[in-house]
This record gives sequence, structure tokens and C-alpha cells, in this order.
Amino acid sequence: MIIRQKIMRNVSLTAHPQGCAQYVKDQIAFLESKKTGVKTDSLPKRVLVIGGSTGYGLSSRIVPTILAQAKTVNVSFEREPTEKKTATPGYYMTGAFEKEAGKRGLYAESIYGDAFSKEVKEACADLIEKDLQQVDLIIYSLASPARTDSETQEVYRSVIKPIGKDYTSLSLDMQSGMVVKETLQSATEQQVHDTVKVMGGEDWRDWIEYLLDRGVIAEGAMSVAYSYIGPEITYPMYREGTIGKAKEDLEEKAALIDGQLKRVKGRAFVSVNKALVTRASSVIPVVPLYISLLYDVMKEKNIHEDCIAQIFRLFTMRLYGTQTVPVDERGRIRIDDLEMRDDVQKEVMRRWALQTEGEMVKEADLEGFQREYQHIHGFGYDTIDYDLDVDPREM
Ligand code: NAI
Repeated sequence: MIIRQKIMRNVSLTAHPQGCAQYVKDQIAFLESKKTGVKTDSLPKRVLVIGGSTGYGLSSRIVPTILAQAKTVNVSFEREPTEKKTATPGYYMTGAFEKEAGKRGLYAESIYGDAFSKEVKEACADLIEKDLQQVDLIIYSLASPARTDSETQEVYRSVIKPIGKDYTSLSLDMQSGMVVKETLQSATEQQVHDTVKVMGGEDWRDWIEYLLDRGVIAEGAMSVAYSYIGPEITYPMYREGTIGKAKEDLEEKAALIDGQLKRVKGRAFVSVNKALVTRASSVIPVVPLYISLLYDVMKEKNIHEDCIAQIFRLFTMRLYGTQTVPVDERGRIRIDDLEMRDDVQKEVMRRWALQTEGEMVKEADLEGFQREYQHIHGFGYDTIDYDLDVDPREM
């Protein structure tokens, strides 16, 4: 079939297998270009990434593989392709990455299923026990719309809503580049609770507890989950909204998990990462407008980073290669330091004030945003002929 990108409400319904492979190859090429001069001795050799098929999780898998020949296991939720329907980008990217790892003689396996379930946790521990014995690093990088409770089968849904009162803000229709206004109704208490259930730290804690009980976490291992703070303009929708409550919970649970990992002399951290175009972030109102302004400012200042650059810096300059892991006053790793720089934020806010509903976005990197959104689904590469008939089942 001819595979084109189909987008509905900022969600891409299709993915291109060859383009997804290109996305992975580009991340590998970036790391190959950075390899010399980087100390890799302390990098982990056996890594589990929960949510490792796209976005920050995928890069967290690629970095230790390419820099330290690590063996990796990914757990992610994917739709497989059929003759007439494309798979999720995570399916193609995982396939492409595992092929690349294979070419280098490196172990890379995946478990596709619901990370919240007991069965997947069990299958993952079994796989680690059989093939790696133990892991030295566990990255928790899930971004999920729902969670089914393993015990009760109750389904919790995460929502992105303000808390306390409705909130209206400018946002971006990323296909047309038009500035739009969006009003979101405030969340009910139940919705706040449910979002914390899905995106908070409970499942991360359950994973660590279970893997510890199974004896598959190595002495001195680390676990890291990803969070976001961002500027005040996004607070009502993000940090002070339902998702922010979940992130607060994640950050609180990090302290508990750090305590759990003492059993193996390990550590747990939350890393606050930069705002980036991923499948998860593109559907958060306000965020696409903020990101398109931020990208332009950071590119102008020559400090822009994508997923792979962020995770490269996280691994080589925060988690490993330093005597102690540098953290802020609340114990969090800050890899969002460049995004949050005063000069960057002031300039983004100046540009924010220029935006008017119903007009094209101004002084923004709309093209960069759109291109990246295409790339994370395997589209928009000059090297790929999108008019060619491809079998979506072939990678
Ligand atoms: P993403 O959508 O690219 O990746 C999410 C991953 O979770 C995918 O591998 C997906 O398959 C997996 N997943 C979702 N539901 C699952 C389930 N039930 N079982 C197994 N796997 C499942 O998202 P992104 O943006 O990389 O987010 C990862 C983490 O990073 C999230 O916690 C997010 O809040 C955080 N973060 C994201 C930022 C951004 O701007 N994108 C900024 C800072 C933090």
C-alpha cells in the first residue's frame, strides 16, 4: 500500500516502516559522531526500558547500546501491522533498532504488552533471569492514556485538564500553523485521582518491588523515571493540572523507590527533561505552541536538543561519569536546564505575547515542529520515496 501520514486531532494514525528505520539510524549516527572522547566505562551494560519504543524511552535504549554495547530489554505497547494497516511507530522503530543491535552482535529483546499488568512484569523478569540474569539500569518512560488494575480489572483513564477552574489558552493547530484558542474544563476529583493512577509513580514502584523480589536487579543498579516542569504559562494545563499531580506523585514515589533500592545498594531518580515533540506531548493543549516558540529560540541560541541529545547528556553528564549524580533541591536531575534558562524563557514569553487567535503563528519554528512530528512517525524524509507501494508488514 501507499503509506501517507494521516493526522486527526494532532494524532497520527499511520506510520512508515522505512521512515521509522531512518529515525533510528539518525539517532545512532548522532551517537557515533559523539563517541570519541566520551567516557563509557561506567555506563550500564544491561538495561531495561519500560516504554522504550518511542520518544525518550527509545533514546534511553539506543544510548547505552551504541556507547557501551549494552544488552537491552524493551517493554512497550504496540499495534502490529496487517496487510492494510500500518503498525504503531514504536513497532517499526523497535524492529529497526533491534536489527541494528543485531548487526553489532548485541542482545536486544522486546516484550509487547501492557506494562501495568502482572503478566508482563512476570514475563519481563523471566526474560531477564534467562538471558541477562540481572539489570543495572531500569528506565521508566511510560506515557499512557489508560491503566487496567491487575487485581480488580478496573480501568483508569488519564486526562489532561486543569484543576479547580476551566482554563482558556492559546494553542497551535500544528497542521495549519494557525493559533487557536482552547478551553479545557476543569477535572473532577475522580479524574485527578485516575490520572495519578495512570501517570503517577505507583506502577514504577510496583515494577521495582517485583523485580527486586525476583532478584533480577543488580547491586548498585539505578532506576530513573521522566518528568516535566516547564514554564508558568503552561502551569494551569500541565504542572498545576491533572498531569502535574501525577508527576508530583512520581517525584514523591522516587524517594520511596530510592529506599527500596537500598536493598541492592541502588538509587532511584526522577529526571526532569526538556519539552520535545513526541507522540505524548503533541496532544497536550498549549504545549505545541510553546514547543514551536521554544525550538526557534533554542535553535537561534544554538542550544536546541532532541530526544537523543537530551538522553546522551543525561547518561554521560548526569547519571554516569560523575562522582555523584547532580540533583536540584528536591532531589531531581535537571536536564531541562537549557530550556529553563532565563534568557530562553524571557524570549519565549516575548514571542508568546505576539500571538493572536486566528492568525498564523509568529516567530516560531513551525517547520521544525512539523518536520519532527513527521519524523517520529517515519514521514518527511527526503531519502524515502513515499509514492512507492510498501507492505506495512515488512521492515
Ligand atoms: P512516547 O509516547 O513517545 O513514549 C511512550 C512509551 O510508553 C511508548 O514506548 C509506548 O509504547 C509506551 N506505553 C504506553 N502505554 C503502555 C502500556 N500500557 N504498556 C507498555 N508500554 C506502554 O512518550 P514520551 O514523550 O517519550 O514520554 C515518556 C516519558 O517522558 C513520560 O513520562 C513523559 O511525561 C516524560 N516527558 C516527556 C516530555 C516531552 O516533552 N515529550 C518532557 C519531559 C518528560
